[in-house]
Amino acid sequence: MEKKTFVIAIDGHSSCGKSTLARQLAEKLDIVYVDSGAMYRALTWYAQQHRCFDEKDTLNRQKLIQTLPDINIDFIKKNNEHHTMLNNQDVSGLIRSMEISKLVSEVSAVPKVRQKMVKLQRKMAQNKSLVMDGRDIGTVVFPDADLKIFLTAKEQIRAKRRFKELREQGIKTDFEAVLENIKKRDRIDSTREVSPLKKAGDACVIDNSELTPEEQLAKALQLVKKKCHEN
Ligand code: DC
Repeated sequence: MEKKTFVIAIDGHSSCGKSTLARQLAEKLDIVYVDSGAMYRALTWYAQQHRCFDEKDTLNRQKLIQTLPDINIDFIKKNNEHHTMLNNQDVSGLIRSMEISKLVSEVSAVPKVRQKMVKLQRKMAQNKSLVMDGRDIGTVVFPDADLKIFLTAKEQIRAKRRFKELREQGIKTDFEAVLENIKKRDRIDSTREVSPLKKAGDACVIDNSELTPEEQLAKALQLVKKKCHEN
């Protein structure tokens, strides 16, 4: 008999802890974790390397679209850490800079880019259970996901967490710049024409402004128990 697989979709605003929750769930449930944001970041890094942006950071969409057939993005787990592989190169460390954060919304608003990413993401879920986080996972990529979580937190709290994270990684920036970037990405992600960030009608909302990662995980696991195991 075929083993029943299940998909958990986590969407939400920038820097609200989606990947932390997705990683925790993947570990607890022993399923695959896919960070779809890392895929858009990896492509943005590639576009930057291949001069798809001019000196004013304006994106040449045509040039970017031409690079799409050359791109493959994958994830591997090494020493219990998830690594983002772009054409077999580990780009995990390269895609988290503020520079990539500034350029990524522009790249992810291109319809042909989204088509390609959605195709890759659906392929990753073939015959396996997985948890994927992003902006359009419950609305577009997996509209039939077994569980959809919409994660949110107050802007200031998200910026504080992100600022701390960047400092810990040795990336120099100031708090206002991080807050501005979060606000700008939220605006672009929510208002773009294709696959804008929005809560799926059947998603469960978790506001983690006042929650510890452990409390957040406990809430999500309750939802998993209710939704995934009842089907
Ligand atoms: O989750 P993140 O901050 O690493 O995502 C980076 C950017 O990628 C984000 O600003 C919007 C875009 N993105 C998207 O458009 N759709 C997704 N499913 C995931 C990310």
